[in-house]
Amino acid sequence: MIRNAEPSDKLHVLKFCQNTFSWGDYVEHVWDFWLNEDLFFVFEKELPVGIIHSFFSKDQIWIEGIRVDPNHRKQKIAYDLVTHVELVGKSKGAVFSFMLVDVENSISLSLAKSLKYELFQTWNFYALEPKKNSNFNVEFSRSFDENSATHYVKSWRWLPFDDAVKSQLIQENKIIQSQINGKISTAIISNSEHFDNTLIVTLFSESDDATLQIILFLQNYAIENNHNRIQILTKEKLFDFESLEKKLSFHLLRKNLG
Ligand SMILES: CC(C)(COP(=O)(O)OP(=O)(O)OC[C@H]1O[C@@H](n2cnc3c(N)ncnc32)[C@H](O)[C@@H]1OP(=O)(O)O)[C@@H](O)C(=O)NCCC(=O)NCCS
Repeated sequence: MIRNAEPSDKLHVLKFCQNTFSWGDYVEHVWDFWLNEDLFFVFEKELPVGIIHSFFSKDQIWIEGIRVDPNHRKQKIAYDLVTHVELVGKSKGAVFSFMLVDVENSISLSLAKSLKYELFQTWNFYALEPKKNSNFNVEFSRSFDENSATHYVKSWRWLPFDDAVKSQLIQENKIIQSQINGKISTAIISNSEHFDNTLIVTLFSESDDATLQIILFLQNYAIENNHNRIQILTKEKLFDFESLEKKLSFHLLRKNLG
């Protein structure tokens, strides 16, 4: 009943995904990417009635895009899809499985609980408007030793942040830091792979003063690099700032597959 997704599933799936959330859904925008990336599964009952996409990296399997047709819910379809992906992940050597759930999505939080996921971290999502600025006190990092930085966000996936990844990001000038009065804030920048002109930023904030410098830099960087959206993900609560809007909070949930 669970099989790889195929191009011909698209129409059926997008039909039951039209009104997933109050604002619609993003599945139609990522469908082609997910097909190309593999690990994209469909639950079939004559027609597709559920989907899940996953992404393997290092020791973890990332789970995203769980959707079940509203006419087929509460039949353990999501439960079976997640369990399937966990087994696939385990067979590839994953030790952990991760998923991100909106703190207000109580049904998905129940689903995760029933599958024995634990609350690992909580992250806040802010939208920042690009703006021409000058005079910001930041530098490209040459070393970044922050033990609490377990993951960084790439295309809305929380990926393991190890030494090899750090070196590469440092080389590419993707790690920006600001130090003020001994407190350092750090931002890791990346382009969205799925949405045009969107800058995705993982922010580790030690102080508001240092973070303000990074925010001014990011606004200007977006203008100079033709990004019209800046999405900031951070574990911290940020200060009030005119071009910064708090959107949502998410729980990062983890399961040890051992
Ligand atoms: C969340 C969603 C995928 C669940 O799919 P589903 O196939 O109906 O879920 P399952 O039947 O596998 O449920 C497994 C467990 O999840 C929880 N759960 C599922 N639906 C629930 C509901 N309506 N209320 C409370 N708990 C619920 C229960 O713990 C359930 O176990 P139980 O049946 O033993 O009580 C589905 O509601 C959906 O597509 N929602 C919209 C998209 C979405 O929010 N996706 C997740 C984004 S992270």
